[in-house]
Amino acid sequence: MGKLKRGEVVLDLGCGAGFDSLIAARQVGDTGRVISVDMTPAMLDKTLRGAQDLGLKNVEARLGYLETLPVEDSCIDVVISNGVINLTPDKVQAMREVWRVLKPGGRFRIADIIVHLPVPQSARDDIELWSG
Ligand SMILES: C[S@@+](CC[C@H](N)C(=O)[O-])C[C@H]1O[C@@H](n2cnc3c(N)ncnc32)[C@H](O)[C@@H]1O
Repeated sequence: MGKLKRGEVVLDLGCGAGFDSLIAARQVGDTGRVISVDMTPAMLDKTLRGAQDLGLKNVEARLGYLETLPVEDSCIDVVISNGVINLTPDKVQAMREVWRVLKPGGRFRIADIIVHLPVPQSARDDIELWSG
């Protein structure tokens, strides 16, 4: 969804095991960096181990929620997120946080699930549809 430039600062929302963070880290190079945020310490550990295995020194892991990002204002060139926004209970607040941390002219690249129709109550009540 658009190449990252060398030297850019990237924020990966809900990095999971870090696959996208590591690709981003390679693209931005030594002069750029990637901040990987996840609410789960185990996922951040995996991301950092992956970075170590690949010899990437420009990946930083931060524990936190999308709704209260552990990131300063206006410091990010590109926010990326893959399959996470749909999991957040407060999507509007998550979007506010993206807006807050992006530099003016910054970019937001997401891959996610969009529902075009109201979700029926029977689906909302079926836990099997909410978990893997
Ligand atoms: C479906 S996985 C996607 C992981 C990764 N982006 C990928 O594509 O492989 C969702 C990840 O988002 C994290 N997550 C879900 N809701 C979150 C929230 N509100 N704040 C921070 N992380 C969250 C989970 O801990 C999990 O690691």
